[in-house]
Amino acid sequence: MKRKLFCWACTLLSLMFAFTLVGCEKKTPDWEMTPDMYESTSFKAQKEDPNSPDGAAARIPPENTIPRGYTPFDCTETDNEKAGKTLKNPLERTKQVLERGQKIYSTYCLVCHGVKGTGEGSVVPPFPRPPSLISEKVRDWKDGNIFHVITCGQNLMPKYNVQVGVMDRWAIIHYIRGFKNEN
Ligand code: HEC
Repeated sequence: MKRKLFCWACTLLSLMFAFTLVGCEKKTPDWEMTPDMYESTSFKAQKEDPNSPDGAAARIPPENTIPRGYTPFDCTETDNEKAGKTLKNPLERTKQVLERGQKIYSTYCLVCHGVKGTGEGSVVPPFPRPPSLISEKVRDWKDGNIFHVITCGQNLMPKYNVQVGVMDRWAIIHYIRGFKNEN
């Protein structure tokens, strides 16, 4: 008898609980643990921005804007000769500078100009053999002339102004000068 009563009470309680849940209406969203992980306040570059004059989230930078750390170098107006006369290598020829120069040279120049700068890079051939970097011409060149070639390119050689930072260019030049001493 007691057990029966208990069962009834149980069923009644369960039903009451179930009905309470049914009546439960969700008014607020779940608690967001780290909302800024997926609800960024910034616009995505390809999205629309109603506040932007042309409706695009990606704005065009104002005229003459220069990216941080970027030194403008006008290849159309600055010819090689002028660069040789006016530009000075701001770096001292230290062990660190030479190591950095070697690293960057090995990454960007070695494939064409070769380990010793003689033009025996791994892509030669089929790529035409570049002139030697230990030629009399380059030896007599000022650092600014080489800087100009790296920054603006020269005939078949593409420019490396985007891949190689300004200081790294000067470091490469110190490194290239070392080829001369070894030969
Ligand atoms: C894709 C191959 C290639 C790469 C990579 C390359 N160069 Fe060149 N480089 C050439 C060619 C080809 C020439 C000759 C261009 C010409 O006909 O005037 C040249 C010319 C030069 C010259 C002028 C030599 C002269 O006698 O006129 C210098 C200096 C030079 N490169 C340095 C570099 C440096 C430093 C790098 C790395 C940042 C580099 N190059 C990367 C192919 C390359």
